[in-house]
Amino acid sequence: MSRTEAAPDQALGDLTERLLAGLPADAVLTDPDVTASYAHDMASFCPAGAPAVVVLPRTVEQVQHVMRTATALRVPVVPQGARTGLSGGANASDGCIVLSLTKMDRILEINPVDRIAVVEPGVVNATLSRAVGEHGLYYPPDPSSWEMCTIGGNIGTASGGLCCVKYGVTAEYVLGLDVVLADGRLMSTGRRTAKGVAGYDLTRLFVGSEGSLGIVVRAVLALRPKPPQQLVLAAEFASAAAACDAVCRIMAGGHVPSLLELMDRTTVAAVNSMAKMGLPETTEALLLAAFDTPDPASDLAAVGALCEAAGATQVVPADDAAESELLLQARRLSLTALEAVRGVTMIDDVCVPRSRLGDLIEGVERIAGKHRLTIGVVAHAGDGNTHPTVCFDAADPDESRRARESFDEIMALGLELGGTITGEHGVGVLKKEWMAREIGPVGIEMQRGIKRVFDPLDLLNPGKLF
Ligand code: LAC
Ligand code: ZN
Repeated sequence: MSRTEAAPDQALGDLTERLLAGLPADAVLTDPDVTASYAHDMASFCPAGAPAVVVLPRTVEQVQHVMRTATALRVPVVPQGARTGLSGGANASDGCIVLSLTKMDRILEINPVDRIAVVEPGVVNATLSRAVGEHGLYYPPDPSSWEMCTIGGNIGTASGGLCCVKYGVTAEYVLGLDVVLADGRLMSTGRRTAKGVAGYDLTRLFVGSEGSLGIVVRAVLALRPKPPQQLVLAAEFASAAAACDAVCRIMAGGHVPSLLELMDRTTVAAVNSMAKMGLPETTEALLLAAFDTPDPASDLAAVGALCEAAGATQVVPADDAAESELLLQARRLSLTALEAVRGVTMIDDVCVPRSRLGDLIEGVERIAGKHRLTIGVVAHAGDGNTHPTVCFDAADPDESRRARESFDEIMALGLELGGTITGEHGVGVLKKEWMAREIGPVGIEMQRGIKRVFDPLDLLNPGKLF
């Protein structure tokens, strides 16, 4: 029997019994109604199977037991955090063990001298941010789902967020990891020191590996001193091209905003209708820029002048931190709000060199016109990382087909412009063919070779990435 076939009752009984030998009863879920609720992450249109069992370990030893059992019985394992992913990377496969790390949620250490935190994978991003904030420290990576998503999931998908234009992405903050390997052995990678070059950088290899190489059970994360509260400016433009021109001027001018986000007219309207945020409806593109410098008002004034030079019709700095936070809340709501436009969305994550941002957005408009679809664009403009979001009615087969075609054409355009198919959401099951196109056959062969070293039986999140 191949390991992907549905396990017969006897095999499932064996699996459950073996798992229960090293896990408490409440950490092993087998009720199909319950296990089904762990089948999906938040991506639309990604296939998912039915898990045989969901396990919720609380200790490293328990994770080791799960992996030893999986290896002994040749059962695939799908690791999961909060399932806020957008590429199907955490979707279950038939007969798998879903390994949810959400109960391993302790912050083990916060060290202001070494400027590190040591955490378990199930810690929620916002919980960590608040905890380190009490020590005058800052953990920058801030995906929009930060109130829900976990650090383990952030590491698995190499998450970004709004602050990356200044502070970089998750990869820059992961110094060391404890990882349970497919056969249950425990491996430590990296360091808790400021520097370290001993051997290949296996820590970095695990960041963005989407649960395909091992189970992260502990992470040493770099922290920064907490910056002053950021102040946000909103600039309105009569065209997306003018807003992109402003982005180029700001970046070429040597400015270091702590956030530089773009929302197009469709996105602004969607947010207004969902949350009555009162964003300006008549603008074609809204640019949000922020500074967390000692004198944010003067930095914002300089950037505001650049926006005006690029043709901004209105430049409105927030009065205070509370107003700034409100603008960010509106931005973070964008993807949820766009879902309400037609019921379902497919969210691209194309990242291009920021000098090509205007070309990408113009191309997206062309693709939307050709397929007669609404595609809202929200972008981490300062990173060239865009989320063109195709809005469609899943009950309409023709519209669904056009949506998928548009979604793909946007990735093709991103590659043409020298970009990548995914800046921060990962490949999962949604973009597998596109990853092969981006990386090429030789690259894929080497990636498969790495996978074989860590997971010779192909048990860890099989069917993802490639
Ligand atoms: C955002 C997420 C979807 O930018 O990446 O809101
Ligand atoms: Zn994003």
